[in-house]
Amino acid sequence: ERAPQEQTSRQQVSQGQASPGPASLGLVPTMGALHEGHGHLVRLARQENTVVAVSVFVNPLQFGPGEDFERYPRTLESDVELLARFGADLVFAPSVAEMYPGGEPLVRVTSGRLGSVLDGASRPGHFDGALTVVNKLLNITAPPVPAAFRAYFGEKDAQQLLLVRRMVADFALPVDVRPVPIVRDDDGLALSSRNRYLDAAQRRSALVLPRTLRALAAGELDLGAARRRIDAEDGVRLDHLVVVDPRTLVPVEPAPGALALVAAHVGSTRLIDNLVL
Ligand code: PAJ
Repeated sequence: ERAPQEQTSRQQVSQGQASPGPASLGLVPTMGALHEGHGHLVRLARQENTVVAVSVFVNPLQFGPGEDFERYPRTLESDVELLARFGADLVFAPSVAEMYPGGEPLVRVTSGRLGSVLDGASRPGHFDGALTVVNKLLNITAPPVPAAFRAYFGEKDAQQLLLVRRMVADFALPVDVRPVPIVRDDDGLALSSRNRYLDAAQRRSALVLPRTLRALAAGELDLGAARRRIDAEDGVRLDHLVVVDPRTLVPVEPAPGALALVAAHVGSTRLIDNLVL
């Protein structure tokens, strides 16, 4: 059966509400199963651009064997409705065959050292796959006339944001990368498309992640105690909790401005979160 995503390619979801200033295009790359976190990216893009495009594409290149590519939620119809409400003008929802007509691409972006640590160590090839699709999405959606071009990425995926910035710098891509702060639920859990995999008990357990990050930032716990606290939580298996220099991802002593990054499995769902100390 074809995923719903395969039925639609490009569609217009609302009238462009032209904002003043020179023409500009804002692109928000997503994998769909949209939530308010994505909403913040689209709303900021709406404020800053005359045209806002959102891509919805579950990119097979960035999923490893045994990961959740097949079961990743595909909810294109409700995504399109949400995007109209968030204020997007255009949705680009290609099929896998449309994005990769010759099968998986031969030439790819390599993310280097920054893509092989932390989440990249746990998910080999993940960041190469993510950068390869972001590069291609930027090329497909780049405005055809001279106009500003901005692309929006969440700080929730801090390592991805850093790598996209490095790719844009290293390849001199003509796009301005705009970061968007993490959007959280009222209980503190960072919004994620994968949160819908969690049952009620797992969701409560997952709160240990933001709670521990806050305790670390407040200096109430050292790194060792913070790790133990996460591992002690029912149904939670820590992948990594580190404090790093946000530009190099090299571990540093916890200090103001350093970035605390966490990844953990809650049941079979892998969640990530981070906080600047
Ligand atoms: P996806 O997980 O759908 O996320 C799309 C964008 O939304 C990313 O930039 C992500 O950081 C941002 N985002 C998700 N949850 C957020 C939250 N709670 N607060 C703020 N921003 C949030 O990231 C991807 O898709 C893919 O790797 C992609 C870049 C589309 C390439 O395939």
